[in-house]
Amino acid sequence: MTERPSQRTNPLADSVAVITGASSGIGEATAHVLAEDGADVAIAARRSDRLESVAEEIREQTGQAVAVIPTDVTNSQEVNELVEETIEQFGHLDIAVSNAGLGVNRPITELSDDDFSLMRDVNIDGMFYFARATIPHLCETAGNLVFTGSMAANHPRPEDAMYAATKWWTRGFAISLQGTYGPDGVAVSCINPTEVRTEFGTQTDQKFTDRFDKGDVTEPIEVADAIAFAVRQKQPNAITSLDLYRRDKIAHFWAQSNIRHTETNRLIPYAHTNMYCWYNSPYRWRPVVASWGESAFLGRHPTRPAVFVRPSHQIT
Ligand SMILES: NC(=O)c1ccc[n+]([C@@H]2O[C@H](COP(=O)([O-])OP(=O)(O)OC[C@H]3O[C@@H](n4cnc5c(N)ncnc54)[C@H](OP(=O)(O)O)[C@@H]3O)[C@@H](O)[C@H]2O)c1
Repeated sequence: MTERPSQRTNPLADSVAVITGASSGIGEATAHVLAEDGADVAIAARRSDRLESVAEEIREQTGQAVAVIPTDVTNSQEVNELVEETIEQFGHLDIAVSNAGLGVNRPITELSDDDFSLMRDVNIDGMFYFARATIPHLCETAGNLVFTGSMAANHPRPEDAMYAATKWWTRGFAISLQGTYGPDGVAVSCINPTEVRTEFGTQTDQKFTDRFDKGDVTEPIEVADAIAFAVRQKQPNAITSLDLYRRDKIAHFWAQSNIRHTETNRLIPYAHTNMYCWYNSPYRWRPVVASWGESAFLGRHPTRPAVFVRPSHQIT
């Protein structure tokens, strides 16, 4: 029987990867996993001390070469230098992971100009600069370009419209680039996770490592594994999109069309039924499930009174 690609040892041997946002979370885990699979890695982010300790660990654990290249992805010149330095140190580029990103997760009426610019600069401009700089090299090696998208790239996110819009942009950019550079042999992937236990949320003091317990949501290493699966694909295959969702997550969309406020008879948007429930521990996810069969008790906000909702078919 032919060997399954997933069973190859060192499937990325002789490959070179560059990863942005590698000083923590998904990017850090991805650097580890790609090095474990045999790639030499160039790791980028702004915090050079964090990058140095990530590099040290990877070298010790895998024996692969690691280049630390401090970079602010919002600066196109720095991004160009990141890619040039990677080529200078390793000679070629096979894998580029565009992962640096952040969310200032607030409704738009509460977003300042600076919040807006920050998300746009990192999540959109940074990903554009990185793709523009890496694609010519990936065309030479028939390489893989990966974007970290989000579940917010696939669905409405009423409470986080700006963040969601940046991720819709990312997914649109990725799939369009696949159309442009697929004929040159490049694979472009957009990996879309639901919540991951990382430092995401730092900008609003709601770091996901503090908000979620282990086992509640996806771990960074699990997203890294999905990225590794995408970049193991060689000509003629590409993983163009990979949704890594928490198993109960889609249930909230199903609940959306069936929940109405008992007093106003208005549909409760799904964001109220998942985001706000979460904050209102100890109910967490349970009210959404309960709301299907019986009336449910939902806390709209920890500091505001809760509301009763029940399935719309009981009202109309
Ligand atoms: N965590 C989740 O629930 C989740 C879900 C779906 C998608 N995502 C996406 O996953 C990606 C990685 O986030 P994460 O969850 O791993 O969060 P994280 O732990 O906060 O990591 C974010 C990374 O981006 C880097 N970064 C931020 N601004 C930068 C800039 N201007 N220049 C260079 N690097 C910058 C940070 O490094 P420095 O601060 O050192 O620069 C850090 O390494 C993001 O694109 C995020 O939107 C996250």
